[in-house]
Amino acid sequence: MAVKWVLGGVVGVLVVAALVVVGTLTATSAGLPAGTTLHHAPGIIDEALKHAIQEVVKNAMNDALNQEMKEVRSSVNDLKTTMSHLLGAMNDAKSTMENLTHSQSAQRIFDQELRDILNGNWKSVDLAPLDAIAKRTRTERPAGHSGELIAERQLYYRLAQMSHVNRICEIGFNTGHSASLWLFANPTAEVVMFEVRNNDTQVKHGENFLRGPKAVQFGLKNVNQRLRMVFGDSGITVRGVARLEPSLKCDLLSIDGFHEYFHALSDIVDMHSLANPDRHVAVIDDTNCFGDSVDKSLEEAQRRGLVKVLLGMSEPGLKELAEYMAKGSGEDPHPFRGVTLYQYS
Ligand SMILES: C[S@@+](CC[C@H](N)C(=O)[O-])C[C@H]1O[C@@H](n2cnc3c(N)ncnc32)[C@H](O)[C@@H]1O
Repeated sequence: MAVKWVLGGVVGVLVVAALVVVGTLTATSAGLPAGTTLHHAPGIIDEALKHAIQEVVKNAMNDALNQEMKEVRSSVNDLKTTMSHLLGAMNDAKSTMENLTHSQSAQRIFDQELRDILNGNWKSVDLAPLDAIAKRTRTERPAGHSGELIAERQLYYRLAQMSHVNRICEIGFNTGHSASLWLFANPTAEVVMFEVRNNDTQVKHGENFLRGPKAVQFGLKNVNQRLRMVFGDSGITVRGVARLEPSLKCDLLSIDGFHEYFHALSDIVDMHSLANPDRHVAVIDDTNCFGDSVDKSLEEAQRRGLVKVLLGMSEPGLKELAEYMAKGSGEDPHPFRGVTLYQYS
């Protein structure tokens, strides 16, 4: 571009110079009659010509240089913008890679921990600290709870300790036996409990203990910050939370509410909306035991392709409940208690 400008200037000057050299300058300015021509005055004209050429060339060079500089500056700016886009894209790619690597390694850990659980590593869990807590949360009227079960609590304990678990959600608080297990086994996880009986003395008793100063002596840390009670029928509240707080996802889910066929089935269906799609495990209580309809709800969920069953087991039911039932209406309707570990498909 600059060369073009310079050449243009020089050509212009040469044209003027040619006219002068041929001696066709008019002499009007010298007071001679119009049309009189002067012959070439070599010294003066050469000097003027040289000066004019120098000026034109200098100006043309300057203009060209300025123009060139402007273009170079704008090219440098374009380059800068392109570079910064490239850098941004590289950083994005880097963080995507890091996320991918992190997610792959989190998945590997999750798979390994789940394999260990399915291979029975929960059988070594020491329940002594939980037994001590269970004594404090027990009340006069023991509705079904997990406070005396062995296998179920051991399994729950290991599940709560899995590395991916940051939030545990359960339907059915009662006196807070399972809630205390979650809070104890995983001392940093948030625990969201759905319970229909608001203002019920048993529920209050359990909640007050967990939130009170004594709980700390039993190893239950930061309960006030971590325990969230959602009161109301789970048939409404679970879907309500899922809709109003779409980012609330649970890494471990437990269903232990109303054990009637449709309620349990609806709990299974509704809890799906809270399950963390990245990684989660879920348990449903009161399966694999005679005379209970939760098995049928789970079977229906399986038939619909909603869940994948990973493990099922049962053990003798609660002594405490059996004794209580024997005193009153007769037989314990749950001589065995069982649980199923599953995932949403
Ligand atoms: C078997 S107890 C839960 C025991 C507790 N998970 C434990 O292991 O200690 C069942 C609880 O579910 C609650 N429940 C029953 N139907 C419910 C519903 N529709 N919505 C929410 N909670 C419900 C009952 O009030 C009761 O406290």
